[in-house]
Amino acid sequence: MSTPSAPSGSLHAVRVTVNGRPEALRVPARRTLLQVLREDLHLTGTKEGCGVGTCGACTVLVDGRAMLSCLVLAVQADGRTVETIEGLSRDGALDPLQQAFIAHDALQCGFCTPGQVMALRALLRATPHPSLDEIRRAVEGNVCRCGAYPRIQQAALEVARAAEGYR
Ligand code: FES
Ligand code: FES
Repeated sequence: MSTPSAPSGSLHAVRVTVNGRPEALRVPARRTLLQVLREDLHLTGTKEGCGVGTCGACTVLVDGRAMLSCLVLAVQADGRTVETIEGLSRDGALDPLQQAFIAHDALQCGFCTPGQVMALRALLRATPHPSLDEIRRAVEGNVCRCGAYPRIQQAALEVARAAEGYR
């Protein structure tokens, strides 16, 4: 992660690209990326569960890697590219993972779903045809209190087995 630039007053300048859109922010040093996404940019698809790095609900992609946004300071995202669940659909069409989650009924309350989808997106981009074990490992940090794990894995397997792979 980058070293934050010198503060002006108690705020730090942060430039970050979120879902393809450049954002210029001024944030306190201790503000998390999760707080910036939800409260400053109003991207509330990313959820806060535990707030301390144990549930996975806040998972987003930072430079393509799945990260827990409750543990990332906003200043650490300076100069980075962030992807959230809101950035997945294209021209009104859902991402293949989102479609597979619906087809396999891979959610109940849906609170964990954005984090699950983003963790799997990172896996499928790096490994287009992962095994079931690789899928399980990719989401082992994403807690689902509704117990939708088998259906989540089936949804990911469907995308993994698609001949064309994941875009
Ligand atoms: S809210 Fe970040 S891991 Fe739980
Ligand atoms: S669908 Fe409810 S927590 Fe996972």
